[in-house]
Amino acid sequence: MAILEARKVTKAFGGLKAVSNVDLIVEEGQIVSLIGPNGAGKTTFFNLITGIYDVTEGSITFMGKPLKGYKPYDITKLGIARTFQNIRLFSSMTVLDNVKVGQYCRTKTGIWGALAKLPIARFEEKEVEKKCMEKLEFLGMDKYADEIAVNLPYGDQRKVEIARALATEPKLLLLDEPAAGMNSTEKENMMKIIRQISDSGYTVFLIEHDMKMVMKISDKVAVLDHGEKIAEGLPEEIQRNERVIAAYLGQQGREANA
Ligand SMILES: Nc1ncnc2c1ncn2[C@@H]1O[C@H](COP(=O)(O)OP(=O)(O)OP(=O)(O)O)[C@@H](O)[C@H]1O
Ligand SMILES: [Mg+2]
Repeated sequence: MAILEARKVTKAFGGLKAVSNVDLIVEEGQIVSLIGPNGAGKTTFFNLITGIYDVTEGSITFMGKPLKGYKPYDITKLGIARTFQNIRLFSSMTVLDNVKVGQYCRTKTGIWGALAKLPIARFEEKEVEKKCMEKLEFLGMDKYADEIAVNLPYGDQRKVEIARALATEPKLLLLDEPAAGMNSTEKENMMKIIRQISDSGYTVFLIEHDMKMVMKISDKVAVLDHGEKIAEGLPEEIQRNERVIAAYLGQQGREANA
């Protein structure tokens, strides 16, 4: 079953079509990757799904529901969570508190109730904390719960972002370059985490430049170039697709050998 369906999606910034006429389906339970050169429109596509930008033309549906007009917070509530290409953690807050921000979209009183220390919020707080600690344990990050998040190494900060996304209790998780800036050991670890997330029943939509990871982990790969989808298929099909090699994989190979 399609959990996410983009139909002829276009996003124009003035005269630039950052995303152009893209059709894409993410099947429930799969790991689908979106690849392509810098500036191809990958992050913009995530921003369209999560309501940060409105689509210029076309439609995106999530579990059969058209997302048109939904704001980011409502989209989170519907069950889509994401991490950002540039880590966005609250700098003065602990790891646990950062993750709790994700959970508040599922509580009755929300974050303002928690901040105002309403009695019902205090009651909910214990439950929130328990669920957030479970997410941190899942990512092997529970031992850092009381650390200030931005003091952690970069790779661990990415995991905190993932924990916060999972704390919103999503069905679909969008990861924008989760392995960027990581060394090979950290990348291996991130790959394991993504597999583990997938095995736990979340659908994963991944943007990633590390082709080893993409080809190993994905059920399906879609390729953007200058906003257009130039290919879609199984990892092995994408790896030998002439157009993809010319637009992107060839360049990746040259960079790896440089
Ligand atoms: N808010 C915006 N206003 C104007 N142009 C934008 C905006 N956001 C993105 N763009 C442009 O849209 C194009 C696609 O950008 P996008 O960030 O989606 O690329 P990307 O595929 O994620 O690239 P990277 O791999 O470098 O992250 C680029 O030309 C970018 O400059
Ligand atoms: Mg990007």
